[in-house]
Amino acid sequence: MNGRSPAPALFGARIAGIGHYAPEHIVSNADLEKTLDTSDEWIVTRTGMRERRHASADMAVSDLAIRAAEQALKRGGYHATDIDCFILATVTPDFAFPATACIVASHLGATGKPAFDMEIACSGFIYGLSLAAGMIRSGVFTRMMVIGAEKLSGIMNMEDRATAILFGDGAGAAIVERSEQDSFLGCELGADGSTPETLYIPASGSRKPITAAALAAGEQYIHMQGREIFKSAVTRMVNSALVALDRAQLTPSDVRWFVPHQANKRIIDATARQLAMPPERVLMNVDRYGNTSSASIPMVMSEAVDRNLFADGDLLLLSGFGGGLSWGSVLWRWAA
Ligand SMILES: CC(C)(COP(=O)(O)OP(=O)(O)OC[C@H]1O[C@@H](n2cnc3c(N)ncnc32)[C@H](O)[C@@H]1OP(=O)(O)O)[C@@H](O)C(=O)NCCC(=O)NCCS
Repeated sequence: MNGRSPAPALFGARIAGIGHYAPEHIVSNADLEKTLDTSDEWIVTRTGMRERRHASADMAVSDLAIRAAEQALKRGGYHATDIDCFILATVTPDFAFPATACIVASHLGATGKPAFDMEIACSGFIYGLSLAAGMIRSGVFTRMMVIGAEKLSGIMNMEDRATAILFGDGAGAAIVERSEQDSFLGCELGADGSTPETLYIPASGSRKPITAAALAAGEQYIHMQGREIFKSAVTRMVNSALVALDRAQLTPSDVRWFVPHQANKRIIDATARQLAMPPERVLMNVDRYGNTSSASIPMVMSEAVDRNLFADGDLLLLSGFGGGLSWGSVLWRWAA
């Protein structure tokens, strides 16, 4: 599958269950005002965020992922052993290795099933869903789980007002299974690794190991060039959405629900405006959860399912953007 779909497929793919989990602890803008030189007014105006969730110190990302996965299984009427393969997208795994997906699958009761992590930052769920759809449609697997889960509070410098206000914790999970009707109408995925420092953790791997000096300099935390990210986010998401639509011979007016990565309300508004997407067709929960990276799209979708928003046949346009830089869009025909 190269994204130039609709590609010939042996089978169709549909979402058969979706779930999410948000940790209980709410961090409001007023809470942040107490420790940072910031204000509710600044945060709301620049980002649209009012609160976000922070997981407790004893929770790892697998704990969030497991809860979202359990809800997806319940909604789908499946047991974990019915899942042929688990994909977990995250930038905040339990450990650098082994893959958190292995831990999640075993905890759910599916030891022995293939499970692996994907690290493509905020585009994680879009990439994961595209990959799962490709594997289902070509017959490799019958039923897969794609999880986006993040504990970003663990990699934020809570003294850095530029990033501490933006990110939150959460998880979303979707079961993708073989079906007669095909929900996957196409995708566009892309990456540009020429400036990784635009959004990264400097001391986190083989380029710059975590040393005492790196820790003292705060290089174990997210570093971000916010304004640069903002500009590329809108351009990349709009272009990606238009290319995906064009490949599927569709236009923005065919889209019932625009499901953007929840990075910032201003980014979402600008992207929607350029796609001529009316606000009532744009799904948003950035005000309540902030930016939860790979978890944001499945979380907003799962909340939409809670509200019975999606009807059979609705066309969903999922678009994301993030570190890498990376971006992507998926066109998905909802099947009830
Ligand atoms: C981070 C972001 C909200 C900042 O908004 P902005 O309008 O670009 O603001 P700027 O960075 O230009 O900063 C403007 C001023 O606000 C200040 N500022 C930054 N964060 C602040 C905060 N939390 N509270 C108050 N002031 C703040 C800056 O220091 C700057 O002050 P100065 O003019 O005295 O230098 C915005 O750039 C953004 O959302 N970028 C994308 C980030 C993102 O989505 N990352 C993840 C991608 S998946």
